[in-house]
Parts: sequence; structure tokens; C-alpha cells
Amino acid sequence: MTSRRLILSRSVALAGAASCGLCLPGLARAQSGKLRVGFMLPYTGTYAQLGVAIENGVRMAIDEQGGRLGGREIEYFKVDDESEPAKGIENANKLVQRDKVDVLIGTVHSGVQMGIQKVARDSGVLSLIPNAGVHAATRALCAPNVFRTSFTNAQPTLALGPAMVARGHKKAVWITWKYAAGDEAYEGFKEGYTKAGGTIVKELGLPFPNVEFQALLTEIAALKPDAVACFFAGGGAAKFMRDYAAAGLKGKIPLYGSGFLTEGVIEAAGPAAEGVITTMHYSDSLDTPRNRQFRLDYAKTFKMQPDVYAVQGYDTGLLLVLGANAVKGDLSGSKPALYKALESAVIDSPRGRWTMSRAHNPVQDIYLRVVEKGENKVLGVAAKALADSGTGCRLG
Ligand code: BEZ
Repeated sequence: MTSRRLILSRSVALAGAASCGLCLPGLARAQSGKLRVGFMLPYTGTYAQLGVAIENGVRMAIDEQGGRLGGREIEYFKVDDESEPAKGIENANKLVQRDKVDVLIGTVHSGVQMGIQKVARDSGVLSLIPNAGVHAATRALCAPNVFRTSFTNAQPTLALGPAMVARGHKKAVWITWKYAAGDEAYEGFKEGYTKAGGTIVKELGLPFPNVEFQALLTEIAALKPDAVACFFAGGGAAKFMRDYAAAGLKGKIPLYGSGFLTEGVIEAAGPAAEGVITTMHYSDSLDTPRNRQFRLDYAKTFKMQPDVYAVQGYDTGLLLVLGANAVKGDLSGSKPALYKALESAVIDSPRGRWTMSRAHNPVQDIYLRVVEKGENKVLGVAAKALADSGTGCRLG
């Protein structure tokens, strides 16, 4: 009798698994006890400080709500993804298969995100993207269980081109790391800049995370464009701004960028960052009670200043709290109710209020900023309630 019941329950489990792809890890996940939260982030390499800021932000949002999710205690699991795309699937499976997390929070690097996306789609585990802007995640490969709290790579740069043309810069050179984030940021830049009447005279690139910029800076000097626009982030962004100044280009050819260029690295870049103009969905200097309070609390808790990555982490925490509360902590069992709550979320963020698009990406304001006295100062709103196209996504 016992063995027959065992066989029956196994066949029910297998039938369930077959109907939702490879959902076995989900079935094995405990419905009670501690809720298992997995961080897959870079803790080493050029994006290490971005990973730390995101984790800080998530923990801060959850701690503000009593340190529980939907009434359940939490157990955290961590994997350093090293910003290494080749290990993306293996690392995501460490959290999903081995640690049996109820939610996977990650990551920063677009190439690594593609590995997470595959594991998320195959397993059905709730996946929250706190940074990586790779288009496919909320376009052709979008999924009911994947939600992004950050941006798509083209979102900040779509608004950059028109701002440059409005400042009289009609001929630009684009320079970036050649991987999905840089290539897709270029897509947004090209669309916005050329529609506004600008001409891109040259597109330059180097492999991620290479920081040997010298030869490319010499080429820019020879091309003499009206301005330069770029995508770099983390430690490499600070070095790019320092090298740009050291090459004698600062003050001669204005430097613009997707806002990651000046996020979290202004101190490291020093005077080279002053005057750099960027577009981004956040700014340190947003003068709202929400942002002021967030910055005070973050600095007090972590003894460092927050940046856009900390805000994205914080918003990921807010979204998770909201979803977990809606299903009383049962993230794996009450999926339709969970997804409905996440899809209709209105996040009261330090960046300003934002909502989820049908493809599960933020609809948000993009600010025009300039670095002044070591801070990203808001010059205005470059694009109001900007949504990504979500092309190819069949949700909703
Ligand atoms: C990305 O790879 O998607 C990315 C990394 C750092 C900053 C912004 C985007």
C-alpha cells in the first residue's frame, strides 16, 4: 500500500513537471519554513561594487518591513557570478537546483543574465532582475516569472541623443564595451540621436572588461567630433573618464554617456568626471522627501553613499515584499496571484514612482544630469514615463 501511494504521488509529480517544463526544483521547494532568497551578483571584478550596492538595497527594503517576507523568516544564499557569461547557467543552477531558492535576484551583466533567463524559464522560479538591461529578458524571451526593476539597455540612451542635439552637438562618436549592454545602449542612442538630426561619425568599441582606451582616444582626437557618447560602468567607467581627461580631450570634446558612466564612481574619477552629462532613471540630487530619506538611511546603515544600483536593489526588495505579502509568503504555490500583484505594482521609489510594463520592465522617467561638485545634478526630465518597446513579448 505504502509503495503504491509512493508510485502514485511520484507519477502525479512527474505529470505536473511535464506540464510546466522542467519544474521539478519548484516541486521540491518547501512551502513552509524559511523563504529562500538567492543573490546571483558580481562580488569580484569590475562590477563588484555594483553587486554589493544591489544586495545592500534589497536587504534594506526587506529590513524596513521587519526582515520577513509575507510573514516568513528568510534565509539568504549567495553566488558570485564574476560577470562571467560562460558560467551563467551553472551559477544560476547552484541557487535553483542546489539551494532550492524561492526567488533568484540577479544580476548585473547582460551576458550572465541570459544564463539566468534560461534557468528561470526552465524551472519557473521567480526571477527578479535588479540591473542587467539585456533586451531579450523583457522582449522576445520574456516570461511570466521574470520581472525587471531596473531598465532596458536602450532606455537611458534613447533620451541622450536629443539632449546632445539640443546642445548643438550634431556630429558624435560612440564608444563602448562590445557586449550586449554596450551594443543595445548604442541601439537606443542611434535611434534617439539620428531622429533628432544628429550624425554618428564613428562607432568604436573594445571587449569587456578591457580598459586599454589609449588607441581609441587617439582616434577620437583625430576625428574631432562635436561630442562623444558612451556606455561604460563600474571601475572601467572611472578609468575611462580619467583617461579621457589625461588624453587632453576634456574641455575640448564634451563627454556624454548613459548614466552608468558616473554612477558610484565620481570619487574614483575625481576632477575628470566634472561636467560629464548623462541620462539615467535616477540622480543623487533628486530633491524629494523619498530620495532624501532613502539616502540618509542607506548612508547610516552601510556607511557609504547610495547610487542607482542601490536604488534598483532597494526597489527589487520593495517589489518582493509587495509580492510576498500578496500571497502570504507562498511564492511557489500561488503563482497567478503573485504575478498579478507584481504586474500591478506601483513602486514608490527614491527614483520617483514607476510601474511595470506588460513585458515586466519599469515605465519610468529618465533624467538629464551633469556632474557638479562631485554629484550627479538633475538638469531636467529628458523623457517622461518612458516604456521599453517590449517587442516580441507575448505576455498580458
Ligand atoms: C549590463 O550588462 O546590462 C549592465 C552592466 C552595468 C551597468 C548597466 C548595464
